[in-house]
Amino acid sequence: MFNASEPPDLFSRFAGYTAASDLMKAGLYPYFLPLAGQEGATVRRSGRELIMCGSNNYLGLTADPRVHAAARGALERYGSSSTGSRFLNGNTDLHEELEAELADFLGKPAAVVLSTGYQANLGALAGLLTARDYAVVDRDAHASLVDGVRLSGAKLRRFPHNDAEGLRRTLEQLPDDAARLVIVDGVYSMEGDICDLPALTAVCAQYGARILVDDAHGLGVLAGGRGTAAHFGLTDQVDLITVTFSKSLASLGGAVAGSEEAVHYLKHKARSLMFSASMTPASTAAALTALRILRAEPHLTTAVRAKADRVRRGLAEAGVGTGDSTTPIIPVPVPDAQGTLAIWERLIRAGVYVNPVLPPAATPRLRTSYMATHTHDQLDRVVEVLGAEPELRRAAERVASSASAA
Ligand SMILES: Cc1ncc(COP(=O)(O)O)c(C=O)c1O
Repeated sequence: MFNASEPPDLFSRFAGYTAASDLMKAGLYPYFLPLAGQEGATVRRSGRELIMCGSNNYLGLTADPRVHAAARGALERYGSSSTGSRFLNGNTDLHEELEAELADFLGKPAAVVLSTGYQANLGALAGLLTARDYAVVDRDAHASLVDGVRLSGAKLRRFPHNDAEGLRRTLEQLPDDAARLVIVDGVYSMEGDICDLPALTAVCAQYGARILVDDAHGLGVLAGGRGTAAHFGLTDQVDLITVTFSKSLASLGGAVAGSEEAVHYLKHKARSLMFSASMTPASTAAALTALRILRAEPHLTTAVRAKADRVRRGLAEAGVGTGDSTTPIIPVPVPDAQGTLAIWERLIRAGVYVNPVLPPAATPRLRTSYMATHTHDQLDRVVEVLGAEPELRRAAERVASSASAA
């Protein structure tokens, strides 16, 4: 039927969105900061050097000359782009070598690489799940996992963070005849805590659920770099492991590892693999070389954890909170969302780069993270700068007193 009234103009919402421009006007906009160069542990911005405590470059391999040489070599041999999907024209022997070596390292029979970690999660979840299935997802799981479930059309259920009893209650409520996949992070990207895999896999086994672990932040960090499943000796109990190359492996790309059968299926069902150009040759060679360095030099993984322990100790002595972190990701509690950006801005001026986190991403905090290649002097300076913020000490006191009241 003819409708005389005008439909609303979608673009009218642009003018109404002022949250970001308000921060820009206040000089407190913390996003899209252009960096003029980076050496791993330090970055350059507006002519100044900052200590980088906001990256996921856990092993510092983005600055490794061997990784650079491999990327350059691949660029010269294969060109600058794969120019298409692996399915058709964008597959190279490099992609397949990376898959074979990664699967072997993770202790899984097979792996498939995709162009980002985000696409690996979308591909694994939307490739596997259908609208008839249930996806039971940790409340703090990464956004890409939730997006993958949404894309699949599966029914989404959340369970309380890292809570095996909560998972049990959620699984108990599902219809007996419904297939179910439990979805967790290995190391949580905002908290830096490790998934309670022994308890969670036991519940999965009891309730006939498969489990996928996104080990973006466990790869390169736990168990000589093999990640969370290996850390607990539970690789056989984890059905699918997804990883990204954009953190410890100093590149761009991601992968899903599992049984031969699972990987074969996903290679023909994951639309984010089939309908997107493959990792560039340079990215593939960089990830492959970083993986080989990680295997040959597992001391890098102990170094990054030792560096983070030093910071955790230093911050505790300075009265600054570190959440439940036991990994290179250390969340520092802040008083409130409003104060977060002012503190962040002072830290940048003092030469320390951290990530301010605001709702809805998570409760307000400064997300700090550390590298094997940070020097002790750099780390001690970071502790000094954070410790000089009275509001961070007050926030830690508040967290401690509410924990003791609970
Ligand atoms: C837990 C987790 N999974 C997946 C991703 C996505 O990885 P990528 O940056 O390679 O797309 C990230 C990155 O932020 C992550 O933290």
